[in-house]
Amino acid sequence: MHLSTFLALGALVCGIETALTEPIDRHAIVSRYNPTRNASSTTTPMQVGNGNFAFGADVTGLQTFEPFAIMSSWGWKNDTLPPGRTWEDVANYRGESWDFHGRPMEIMYGGDPLIQQWLISNPNRVNLGRVGLLFFDARGQVVNVTENDLVDKQQKLDLWTGALTSQFVYDGQNVTVTTTSAQSSSAVGIAVHSSLLLSGRLGLFLDFPWNDGKYFSAPFVGSFDAPANHTTNLTTGQQLGHNIQAEVSHTLDSSTFITSVGGDKFSITRDSPDAHRYSVKPQAHFSSFSLSVSYSESTARTKSLPAPSAIAAESSQAWTDYWTRSGFVDVLTGSSDSRAEELQRRIVLSRYLMRVNEAGNNPPQESGLTNNGWYGKFHMEMVFWHMAHWQLWNNWDLVSGAGDSYQHFLSSSIERAQVQQNFSIGARWSKMTDPSGRSAPGEINELLIWQQPHPLIFAEYEYRSTRSRETLERWKDIVNETANWMAVFAWYNQSTGYYDIGPPMYVVAENTQPNITRNPSFELAYWKYGLGLAQTWLHRLDLEAPDIWQDVKENLAPLPIENGLYAVYEGIEPDFWTNPTYINDHPALVGLHGWLPPVPGVNLTIAKATADKAYVTWNITNLWGWDFPMLAMSAARNGETDQAVDFLLHPLFKFDDVGMPTGGVRVPTPYFPGSGALLYAVAMMARGWDGSTSSAPGFPNKGWNVRVEGINMAL
Ligand SMILES: *[C@@H]1O[C@H](CO)[C@@H](O)[C@H](O)[C@H]1NC(C)=O
Ligand SMILES: *[C@@H]1O[C@H](CO)[C@@H](O)[C@H](O)[C@H]1NC(C)=O
Ligand SMILES: *[C@@H]1O[C@H](CO)[C@@H](O)[C@H](O)[C@H]1NC(C)=O
Ligand SMILES: *[C@@H]1O[C@H](CO)[C@@H](O)[C@H](O)[C@H]1NC(C)=O
Ligand SMILES: *[C@@H]1O[C@H](CO)[C@@H](O)[C@H](O)[C@H]1NC(C)=O
Ligand SMILES: *[C@@H]1O[C@H](CO)[C@@H](O)[C@H](O)[C@H]1NC(C)=O
Ligand SMILES: *[C@@H]1O[C@H](CO)[C@@H](O)[C@H](O)[C@H]1NC(C)=O
Ligand SMILES: *[C@@H]1O[C@H](CO)[C@@H](O)[C@H](O)[C@H]1NC(C)=O
Ligand SMILES: *[C@@H]1O[C@H](CO)[C@@H](O)[C@H](O)[C@H]1NC(C)=O
Ligand SMILES: *[C@@H]1O[C@H](CO)[C@@H](O)[C@H](O)[C@H]1NC(C)=O
Ligand SMILES: *[C@@H]1O[C@H](CO)[C@@H](O)[C@H](O)[C@H]1NC(C)=O
Ligand SMILES: *[C@@H]1O[C@H](CO)[C@@H](O)[C@H](O)[C@H]1NC(C)=O
Repeated sequence: MHLSTFLALGALVCGIETALTEPIDRHAIVSRYNPTRNASSTTTPMQVGNGNFAFGADVTGLQTFEPFAIMSSWGWKNDTLPPGRTWEDVANYRGESWDFHGRPMEIMYGGDPLIQQWLISNPNRVNLGRVGLLFFDARGQVVNVTENDLVDKQQKLDLWTGALTSQFVYDGQNVTVTTTSAQSSSAVGIAVHSSLLLSGRLGLFLDFPWNDGKYFSAPFVGSFDAPANHTTNLTTGQQLGHNIQAEVSHTLDSSTFITSVGGDKFSITRDSPDAHRYSVKPQAHFSSFSLSVSYSESTARTKSLPAPSAIAAESSQAWTDYWTRSGFVDVLTGSSDSRAEELQRRIVLSRYLMRVNEAGNNPPQESGLTNNGWYGKFHMEMVFWHMAHWQLWNNWDLVSGAGDSYQHFLSSSIERAQVQQNFSIGARWSKMTDPSGRSAPGEINELLIWQQPHPLIFAEYEYRSTRSRETLERWKDIVNETANWMAVFAWYNQSTGYYDIGPPMYVVAENTQPNITRNPSFELAYWKYGLGLAQTWLHRLDLEAPDIWQDVKENLAPLPIENGLYAVYEGIEPDFWTNPTYINDHPALVGLHGWLPPVPGVNLTIAKATADKAYVTWNITNLWGWDFPMLAMSAARNGETDQAVDFLLHPLFKFDDVGMPTGGVRVPTPYFPGSGALLYAVAMMARGWDGSTSSAPGFPNKGWNVRVEGINMAL
């Protein structure tokens, strides 16, 4: 009997549940959305990569015409210090003392403005270089070719194997370029096929930009017009390492990066002593030429270069594993709702781009490895949106690198809380951060608090998956010190008998006055929820949770209510719903029930009424990124499933032709928290959340056939 007939009969006998057991045709669904282009975008690249390393390409599969970035999780530099300042000044930088309920609390903000700015913009993330095609005429002279000189351009990214193939005709002859990324190192494999190679008319160039902490740099990073600001040096010869024919060392201030090149035999020359451009010419005149280009720090230089074919094989293996072995959601097959196609496209392309940009050893920056916002640094409050989806989609290997940051940052966060800010116990997690765990100075950076409970959620999801003692032990100190600080930041107000949160503090939307912000609804709920998770953690370890956790959890100030609805914070003007100051940024109030599960003390009737008011009152045209998935989760938990799907496809929540999440009105493109939040919301809506009873509870019953494989239930 044919398999599908068998399954169909099974379905008749056993009801629709059996039909659900037919495996999703993952390859068909993924390949359906293979991105194609016939011209370079001037705003977003096509990319290959592995989470620690990404290579942005124009329509030639390289950076021939558009200098999209090659970036990594490890490539950082410090600019020189401001005039007259020393490293001692950096080490001794102190901010200001603010009032914390009658006692001084030091924050990293203010002080010497030159040192402060240096600390904000350093270290900054480096664009490692540029690789492009080089065209020669019949006499071997370089020809200046523009994209318009290429005809019949066709580019396609095979998502299933990670191979980017670009084809075009130049001077009547076909050229094909295939680009793949290594998965266990920071290297690309480049294979060029063309009869032009037979007559020595094609080669490659390497170039190196200057970059520093001056820019918010999108779509490109750095400058190719400041050759005097940095140096490069070429070395060739046998002694370089396995398969390495040439190395270019690139020094920007005190950081040196190495580019190692190998593959088919070539000659390489520097174009001129005062430029950082190098020309690579194939030695033999065959119709194909392949090159491997690897990037590393000088302190960990590449010693062995994989062959281009080995890079392609590794790419294919890793991507196929990724698509076949982790979670999958099919909203397309069997759905009649016209929104299903675009939602599925967003899911597949986000899954690809998150693994390229956001699966490295450090928390990702908002623009991943595509370009630099905020100097390449990352934001610990945003890691929820960047990383929690990996846990629902069963990508434990991809979340573990950045997840270890909590371990790495624990001691500096204890120091922040206890030494710098003089709290008696606990660890205060930073906001804008670099790989060393240092907080970039800033009033908001120092006073935001909603990043604090995040590790409790990451730990909880991991435990739900492993149920292991090892997980409990691994997160124990993080859970303990996270909750300790939450307990002592809450301040016992004798006149009310409640614990207050703030002042001073910033709310999620960063738009209230920190010195008067007390008891914001969202943070109160998140505090209560987080302290409960921390207590449970210790109980699982047969340890007593400190009394103060229980005391604070039970006696936190009640969520403020104005006119029967939850308010942003206690004492805010009652008609804040019409004040532009409060309704133009993240509507965290809708997160009270949606993003957060039911929390004791949060009245779900009021939370729903508050969300309904926000849907129609908040200035939606000024929202961006993860706001829309957060709205969708709220609508989903409130049973407004049609609305939930609409939020995920909102016209202001856009994904471009290759799936890049556009920044919208407020932030540059790409803005990956939008992609991560989309995947988190989709998993929750499709698989369900604790206590949901139907299948795909976040989707409308009519018009949708939603199937999940290997997705974990949301809290
Ligand atoms: C190039 O692609 C765009 C959008 O994908 C399409 O509208 C256009 O017709 C294509 N042009 C050619 C020459 O194929
Ligand atoms: C930048 O300088 C800081 C000292 O302020 C140092 O800890 C860090 O390692 C340096 N980073 C790089 C990439 O040079
Ligand atoms: C908030 O209070 C601190 C002192 O605790 C002060 O330095 C700061 O200027 C105040 N901010 C505003 C906006 O009033
Ligand atoms: C190459 O051509 C472009 C476009 O015509 C021009 O802007 C650029 O300066 C030329 N470069 C060289 C090296 O001639
Ligand atoms: C170029 O490739 C196309 C499609 O692959 C093929 O039809 C055409 O014959 C090729 N042209 C040359 C000159 O080889
Ligand atoms: C090159 O360095 C100089 C001196 O530090 C600086 O003024 C200039 O802005 C830099 N150029 C670029 C393009 O960043
Ligand atoms: C590297 O190149 C620069 C010029 O770009 C030169 O000044 C320097 O001496 C070279 N360094 C080495 C180690 O060759
Ligand atoms: C830190 O807090 C302790 C205990 O509350 C207090 O005795 C001490 O004076 C504080 N230190 C500073 C520098 O404020
Ligand atoms: C939790 O932290 C407190 C304060 O640092 C410490 O005394 C206690 O031993 C820790 N508890 C566990 C279970 O590690
Ligand atoms: C105690 O709480 C009340 C009500 O929230 C508030 O008005 C008052 O300022 C708080 N007291 C202190 C000393 O912060
Ligand atoms: C929730 O709030 C509604 C509206 O104010 C009220 O009627 C209801 O009793 C509250 N529920 C609980 C459990 O407090
Ligand atoms: C809503 O946002 C738009 C920007 O998208 C802005 O121009 C407008 O002023 C805002 N409206 C209000 C009432 O704040």
